[in-house]
Amino acid sequence: MPEDLGIVLAGGSATRLRPVTTVVSKQLLPVYDKPVIYYPLTSLILAGFRKIALISTPKALPQYEELFGNGSQLGLEIHYIEQPTPNGLATAFTLTEKLGSGSDSALILGDNLFHGSQFGHNLGNYRGEPGAHIFAYAVDNPSEFGVVTFDESGKALSIEEKPVNPKSNWAIPGFYFYDSSVFERAKTLQPSKRGEYEITDLNRTYLNESKLKVEKIPRGTAWLDLGTPDGLLDASEYVRTLQKRQGVPIGSPEEAAWRMGYISMDQLEKIVAEHPNPYYQNLLRKAAATS
Ligand code: DAU
Repeated sequence: MPEDLGIVLAGGSATRLRPVTTVVSKQLLPVYDKPVIYYPLTSLILAGFRKIALISTPKALPQYEELFGNGSQLGLEIHYIEQPTPNGLATAFTLTEKLGSGSDSALILGDNLFHGSQFGHNLGNYRGEPGAHIFAYAVDNPSEFGVVTFDESGKALSIEEKPVNPKSNWAIPGFYFYDSSVFERAKTLQPSKRGEYEITDLNRTYLNESKLKVEKIPRGTAWLDLGTPDGLLDASEYVRTLQKRQGVPIGSPEEAAWRMGYISMDQLEKIVAEHPNPYYQNLLRKAAATS
């Protein structure tokens, strides 16, 4: 069996964050004490992925390589893939076809932050399921997202991308789990009216075959948008408050890699010794306290 593939899509032009993103990739901006991309990467690690494809723009990709290298210090195998133009989320699967062919996969958007103890704990269960497994989250502004409707039994009935008149308030967050057929399905898509290969169209191929499972994310789990100045600041405050209060790192790939057994305590200690500052030292303190 080929190794499952976790994909982080970290490209795009981030026009809503200009001038902050004029020369810096959005997913390298800080959310409190770490770059935005640490949070989705941690979610993939907690879901059990070790083989990672990091997709970004030709300009930003070398910076991600500098940040994570080949991933071996985290027990990962990271592959870097250019997306020449931001022509849609579903292109993540045409770009990674060679790497992921025959394997199950998950895609997470590089600017999506998920946090909730049970949520992280359950992520490993979604790998290896037949079909696709996605999530729904109740929001006040559904027309800014993909939107799903349900029947009385909780089965997904329809999905629409940014509907002007949304039929429900259930938004679809940017974290998607797929079986190995996703690579073939992605090739059959046509660009939408806005010229993008839409993730919603990809998900609809599963829905039409009754192979799309949509799980409502329970209250108490946070899904934060990092695409605006307010979103970034809110997320920073959220992370700072919880980390200080509970002493537990949020969105730390080093801690997650240790927790998942990808790296040993010795390896974690080595990482901390290389960077003796509060971020790294807290990792060790917490790991020692909970091991
Ligand atoms: O955040 C969840 C939403 O993400 C979903 O509910 C929608 O169904 C989905 O289409 C997507 O909507 P957005 O409008 O938020 O997508 P956006 O174009 O902002 O892209 C999301 C992230 O992915 C963003 O950080 C930039 C990156 N991206 C986007 C595109 C289109 C890429 O790296 N490459 C791309 O081609």
